[in-house]
Amino acid sequence: MASLQFLPLKASHLYANTTTPHNSSTSQFFLNRENRKHVFKKSLACRAAKDNTNDQENANDSFKNVGGKFDRRDILLGLGGLYGTTAVSQAAFASPVDATKCGNADTLPTCTNIKDANCCPPPNPNISDFIFPTNQPLRVRPAAQLADKKYIEKYNKAMQIMRSLPKDHPHSFAQQAAIHCAYCDSAYEMVGFPNVKMDVHFSWLFFPFHRWYLYFYEKILGKLIGDPTFAIPYWNWDSPDGMPIPDMFADRSSPLYDKLRDDNHQPPLKIDLNYSKSNPSPVGNELIEANYRVMYTQMVSSSKTPELFFGGAYRGGEPQVKAAGALENQPHTQLHIWTGDPEQKYGEDMGRFFSAGRDPLFYSHHANVDRMWNIWKTLPGKNRKDIEDPDWLDSAFLFYDENEKLVRVKIRDCVDTKKMGYVYQDVPLPWLGARKPPKKGKGKGLGKKSGVANAAEMPQVFPNANQVFPKVLDGLLKVTIPRPKKSRSQEEKEDEEEILVIDGIEYDGDEYIKFDVFLNDEDEVESGPNNAEFAGSYSNVPSKSNNRVKVSMSLGITELLEDVGADDDDNIVVALVPRTGKGKVTIGGAKIIISS
Ligand code: C2O
Repeated sequence: MASLQFLPLKASHLYANTTTPHNSSTSQFFLNRENRKHVFKKSLACRAAKDNTNDQENANDSFKNVGGKFDRRDILLGLGGLYGTTAVSQAAFASPVDATKCGNADTLPTCTNIKDANCCPPPNPNISDFIFPTNQPLRVRPAAQLADKKYIEKYNKAMQIMRSLPKDHPHSFAQQAAIHCAYCDSAYEMVGFPNVKMDVHFSWLFFPFHRWYLYFYEKILGKLIGDPTFAIPYWNWDSPDGMPIPDMFADRSSPLYDKLRDDNHQPPLKIDLNYSKSNPSPVGNELIEANYRVMYTQMVSSSKTPELFFGGAYRGGEPQVKAAGALENQPHTQLHIWTGDPEQKYGEDMGRFFSAGRDPLFYSHHANVDRMWNIWKTLPGKNRKDIEDPDWLDSAFLFYDENEKLVRVKIRDCVDTKKMGYVYQDVPLPWLGARKPPKKGKGKGLGKKSGVANAAEMPQVFPNANQVFPKVLDGLLKVTIPRPKKSRSQEEKEDEEEILVIDGIEYDGDEYIKFDVFLNDEDEVESGPNNAEFAGSYSNVPSKSNNRVKVSMSLGITELLEDVGADDDDNIVVALVPRTGKGKVTIGGAKIIISS
């Protein structure tokens, strides 16, 4: 029964019928071409202006055959049938005609006067299941800073052609850019759940969605120049030479250039992977080291389990419990914010989800994120493997392929990039050695200096977390948190990870929020990743407006507790340091758990 409770997300389900007039379910599945056009036009209307009652009625119609009344339980049972053999359900849900609609994005507060609210792909009634092309030559994605002149010319040419296609052509750059808006600003809904919108961020969909997105972007570019070996470059921001915006994207005469970027962050300036907007970035070697530390923390020490790395589960029909994986949270977010133009109202292009895809650099940023998924699986540790949950493996998205066919792709087909026909150029990983050795004289955690054994025995300067939260984070906050178990054996540590969970993090989705987290830090002014006590950072790319966002963050701390000498302590002291959006974020609670 349990498996019927949850349903993988399928983009085809997400073209729910929320925009057609209230009519019979049969007719909406077999619209002729003219009607479809009409429907598509209608969908341009602002979602906010739509009548919810209508949505509800439509949903009732959709479920007439399988569940009767619109009720969550019925729906789940009905959809369970879809994966069985019920012919009626198949017709009702898997009908390709149904998968032609997508609504407006939640992009901006007043979508009526903003063209950006519509970012759906050209409608197409024919959806086929994706099949890998046979005999495709291997594509090797180069590090952007190492690409030669010939390669750059090739990419320029492909982008030139892509930019010159008519806006409504599925291969045009405008359409490629719109994909990000549609999947990231909740344009898609799930069939039967007209009020449940989909956002591929803050969840385990983050890595696979972007992987498929880049796959088609790359195949289309290759097709445009008749070169099936063409592979997009990756922005190698984890290596010193790769830290500035790669030159090919900064060349003003290139179609790879985008003017909506921060003027103060042009090459040769190196990215700050802990960029906060409000605090000055370190410079020189200090910056490089801080970047290594961020990479080490996010890739090695705090993300030892699939859930920590990929993010929280997200299943069909369920409201999303937002929990980004380690790398999505940082440095993925920082790269968006650092690159976008702060003079634009919304930090366009890279600083907002709806516009991020309009910067060609976006695809190279995400190629490096994607490369990190491959690297993560090769690092030592028992639990570094792909998620095995079928709800993840069977989740599906829709894309136009290089032959202009609309195809449904599944996550299970993207876990191995070799199968997808590509690999990444091998370069050194200088951050692998960035673990901070345990501090001398700090063997017993916070208490050492004052001669007491652990945080619990400290004079009660730092109240217990459950006495403090919920609390608005308007300044440095230190709380004491009890640990479920201390002094675990090496074996136990390999099997299970000690995790700091900060949840009920609430703010306006419109705001850029960033706060840093430190463990048992003795300093009064926590500086950043170069502190051995740096545990991680929460940050977001602003997206929805007029929307309170509630997220949770999990940081693996087994290794860090050793490094700060707190492994034998009953409690730890957690410091939260607001960097951006001081006073605009509420923390619901914090606890420590042990989990595999
Ligand atoms: Cu879909 Cu970098 O975001």
